Amino acid sequence: MYVIMGATGNIGSKLANILLDKDEKVIVIGRSAERLRPFVDHGAEAAVGDISDAEFLTHVFKGADAVFAMIPPNYTTDNVRGFYNEIGANIVKAIQESGVEHVLFLSSHGAHLAENTGPIKGLHDVEQQLNELDDVNVLYLRPTYFMENLLANVGMIKNMGIIGSEIKGDVKFSMIATQDIALVAADHLIKRDFSGKSVHELLGERDVSLQEVTKIFGGEIGKPDLNYIQLSSEDAKKGMMESGLSDDVSDQLLELGQAITSGIIAVNQPRTAENTTDTSIEEFAEFFAQVYKNS
Ligand SMILES: NC(=O)c1ccc[n+]([C@@H]2O[C@H](COP(=O)([O-])OP(=O)(O)OC[C@H]3O[C@@H](n4cnc5c(N)ncnc54)[C@H](OP(=O)(O)O)[C@@H]3O)[C@@H](O)[C@H]2O)c1
Repeated sequence: MYVIMGATGNIGSKLANILLDKDEKVIVIGRSAERLRPFVDHGAEAAVGDISDAEFLTHVFKGADAVFAMIPPNYTTDNVRGFYNEIGANIVKAIQESGVEHVLFLSSHGAHLAENTGPIKGLHDVEQQLNELDDVNVLYLRPTYFMENLLANVGMIKNMGIIGSEIKGDVKFSMIATQDIALVAADHLIKRDFSGKSVHELLGERDVSLQEVTKIFGGEIGKPDLNYIQLSSEDAKKGMMESGLSDDVSDQLLELGQAITSGIIAVNQPRTAENTTDTSIEEFAEFFAQVYKNS
């Protein structure tokens, strides 16, 4: 039996469905029975609760063959790193008290670094917390930038006629579709082919710049002249705060953008078949265009 945290999210939802399609026994965690209902209809058991409650997590983890653990983004916290550490401590406590032996933790590209990576610093800290667990096998899945992040540009194209962020437009970096992350996660959970503490980096299909992404998306939505604009830190932060992000979340995302631009979170490992995944940005552009047309 597998326990999936964040089961209504980008990765958890796809992972739960992949496992359920294989007739695996799955418990899905989320705060709303209604949002979990599609998984229950697909054969899962729902555990409705809040992961800020370590006792709830412990109860759900008990008896699991493996757990998919993740820290949800919190867009309103005034201390991003503190939030990651707090939820990380709950996960560690629940692993210890439930006795689960295999944990796949959704970490990130760049989590080997302790500073200057924005929210990823929090994932670095949680990896250190999990490293303290004796006799628990933990695989740190470290995917790169999710292609799904790019969906936030739908509103910007509609309102301002551009794609823009603080990241420099011609810097190529790796991007990955969350379906591809979920496929790799499902394979590791089923095989439980990890022991001790280990890392699997995932780099997506190829490195691509935001200028290239903008051309590809523009072509797909019938706007071939769509431009990418690198925003100043001030303008980027103003936009983030106007969309409801807290001051600290905005600062951390700016720091992450700077880390991508400067290349400091460039991957640790060379590209191999093991860390390269299938979905190209051109394939993702078809999904982007559907979301664009329906919004
Ligand atoms: N975006 C990137 O490029 C990127 C790259 C590498 C790593 N990451 C990491 O990936 C993680 C995010 O993964 P994701 O995109 O799959 O997440 P997501 O789509 O934002 O989903 C978050 C999930 O967490 C659940 N959740 C939120 N707060 C909860 C709470 N208090 N109690 C119980 N459940 C709660 C939500 O369910 P309900 O709302 O239904 O409760 C939802 O299922 C983050 O740790 C991020 O740092 C992101």
